[in-house]
Amino acid sequence: MPLYQNLEALHRERKKYLGNQCGLVPTMGALHQGHFALIEQAQVENESVWVTIFVNPTQFNNTSDLHAYPVCLKKDVEAIHKINPAINIFAPSVQDMYPKHVHATSYAFNGLDTVMEGADRPDHFNGVITIVSKLFEAVHPHSAYFGEKDFQQLSIIKNWVKTANIPITIVPCPIVREANGLAMSSRNELLTKTTRAEAGFIYKTLEHCASNYMKKAAIYAHIANVFAQHPTFTLHYALCVDETSLQEVTEVNPQENQRLFVATSVEGVRLIDNIALK
Ligand code: PAF
Repeated sequence: MPLYQNLEALHRERKKYLGNQCGLVPTMGALHQGHFALIEQAQVENESVWVTIFVNPTQFNNTSDLHAYPVCLKKDVEAIHKINPAINIFAPSVQDMYPKHVHATSYAFNGLDTVMEGADRPDHFNGVITIVSKLFEAVHPHSAYFGEKDFQQLSIIKNWVKTANIPITIVPCPIVREANGLAMSSRNELLTKTTRAEAGFIYKTLEHCASNYMKKAAIYAHIANVFAQHPTFTLHYALCVDETSLQEVTEVNPQENQRLFVATSVEGVRLIDNIALK
């Protein structure tokens, strides 16, 4: 089983793949169909696939969220093994990734972090880029796979790679959904069965707005109205933004690349989702 739990073991193994086209799938574990889709795509496009499993402390805004995050390495390793026993897994310790201080580096994100998750979760994206940078340095992939559920994260990673001239192709992968439409997330595991079933309304609401070509004010009014019917769900934001700048648009225009984003919390679990307004 190619499982490496420290940098030394990873480096030793990675050397054997020199000249290979390597694809990286960075994860925080508690793997689900969304991750498996990233792995499948990485398998199609690369000679070797490297999955990292690391719950990164510097991207959490509070310790209760960090401690609640589901951890199940054995199950994750078995699931990857079922897809393909040749997939390499890197699951380091915090000490390995942060040998001196458990601390995020500060980056400039050209305003991409001033809205939505960046506005609600100070330093979150500094933590994400800090760890992605360390994982890129450790694995040296040619390409890396990220899901569009975390669209703002994906935009920030693409922007950082471009600005810092990092020769790694960032591959966006479509959102994978549960049967009721809820975007797949490791955090869904933390919901009660009833709430998880109810949470299907989030995507249905986004779909309704996108498929009816609604105006911005009508979208916001509709979302506020629907959330009022689901009082256990706190709506943090609903925002129509330009896909490149991530800034709010003045008006929805299906000819342009725009997207509708929502963030909500229920039972102490933060859920995010988005849809293209085309
Ligand atoms: O999307 C995630 O799971 C995490 O933010 C990532 C990219 C693995 C960094 O910890």
